[in-house]
Amino acid sequence: MAIRMMAAALLALATPALAGTVTASGTIDTAAKGVRIAPEIYGQFAEQLGSGITGGIWVGEDSSIPNIRGYRRDVVEALQKLHVPVIRWPGGCYADIYHWRDAIGPRGSRPVTLNKWWGNKEEDNQFGTNEFFDFAELLGSKTYLNVNVGSAGPAESMDWIEYITHGGNSTLAKLRRANGRDKPWKLDYVGIGNEMWGCGGNLRAEEFAPMVRRWGTFLKQDGTRLIAGGATGSDYHWTDVLMSESRARFDDISLHYYTLPTGDWGKKGSAIGFDEAAWTATFKRTRALETMIVGHDAAMTKYDPEKKQGLIVAEWGTWYDPTPGTNAAYLVQENTLRDALVAATNFNIFHRHADRVHGANIAQMVNVLQAMIHTDGARMVLTPTYWAFLLYQPFQGATALPVGVTTPDYAEGLPAIDVTAARGADGKIHVAITNVDPNNPATLNLSGLKPGTIAGQILTAKTMDARNSYAAPGIVVPAAFAGASWQGGKLVVKLPAKSLVVLTLG
Ligand code: AHR
Repeated sequence: MAIRMMAAALLALATPALAGTVTASGTIDTAAKGVRIAPEIYGQFAEQLGSGITGGIWVGEDSSIPNIRGYRRDVVEALQKLHVPVIRWPGGCYADIYHWRDAIGPRGSRPVTLNKWWGNKEEDNQFGTNEFFDFAELLGSKTYLNVNVGSAGPAESMDWIEYITHGGNSTLAKLRRANGRDKPWKLDYVGIGNEMWGCGGNLRAEEFAPMVRRWGTFLKQDGTRLIAGGATGSDYHWTDVLMSESRARFDDISLHYYTLPTGDWGKKGSAIGFDEAAWTATFKRTRALETMIVGHDAAMTKYDPEKKQGLIVAEWGTWYDPTPGTNAAYLVQENTLRDALVAATNFNIFHRHADRVHGANIAQMVNVLQAMIHTDGARMVLTPTYWAFLLYQPFQGATALPVGVTTPDYAEGLPAIDVTAARGADGKIHVAITNVDPNNPATLNLSGLKPGTIAGQILTAKTMDARNSYAAPGIVVPAAFAGASWQGGKLVVKLPAKSLVVLTLG
């Protein structure tokens, strides 16, 4: 890996500038009190969909693929390095057709059920409640269960929560013990509804709000935050209605937003082989999430000015046309340098709104949409998105600092340079910078900092759609970065075109 990283570093330095150098400047307010970046902003989402779980995470104890109690060892070890703060499961749309009792008890006797939303795949239910909570424990992650509101009643979810969390001797607690788990599990979040305006029942906000009150009444318990199924994109009305009519019965509210290069669900755009126009559109549509967060925050602030209730961006990421030759219902797509920079762009947005964005879950963890990891049988590869998550780890739980940036636009309405900064628990300042200009390097002059040690890493590659493959896993991987220095009390950072740089200043 070290050799591959060095190769990537040399490659980065060798990237030719087609035109001039972009010059930008910024100031970091290190004296500011700042806002804590909830670690949960780096959460993930794993749905029973295609090979997102079966094959991607779970192979079963008898598999020839090396595993830990049935979970792929390679995937578990890679995810452990990310310190995944929270995992959302079992859907997604799948949550609203999921019946938890189908997936408990001896694995040999579990029913085979139909996944109506994702290609009518026959699900063998080998990965169920016990397997999910065991997996979360292996990763040290919090748990976020999206319960079935669309096609089941509250009693089913009440029973599920009792099965998971009751420490006494109720029949359901005894059932959990009979199924191999003595102690109750910690259930951190319960999602009441997923996309209730769509696959959850095609409801209007006015129809769903009373359901949230009802479900919230029965599902609330100490130690578990309830997340009301929220809006898509810029549907601020949805957030307003839920806040106005049901906010006493939930803790947080979700938001789903996907980046489609074209903005057209019929033809979303290709994951690879795209042109510069598609690159630009992808970043513009990603940056649009910031306007949406501001809009939902405003709708929430009317009722919750102290920002006690969080906006959880429970599904986000790129969504492209499926990889040719794959089952379109399994949402398989390639992952490139563009995806890593999209992830970084989203992280920077979440940091800027950390007072309201209390969590987020990328869609999805393995093999589905903007995944961290791809698998094919016994093979496994880490995607550029994985590396973006790895580089941003110091921001988990750090304190976001205000940053002012003056940058030219790379395209109309799309700044070339984006910067985020935070103070870590160790007192160090962490700075992440993206240059989304795919042609031109940039020089960024940062003031407000005290000169000291600099440690840096860079993620970049030769082409916009560079990616890692099973045969060549080291094409887009972090490399040591030596392009930052102190000059006249300022931090001067020289960024190659299309790059992400993360610095730690001591
Ligand atoms: O992440 C894939 C799907 O996208 C989810 O199941 C659904 O909630 C959303 O539409």
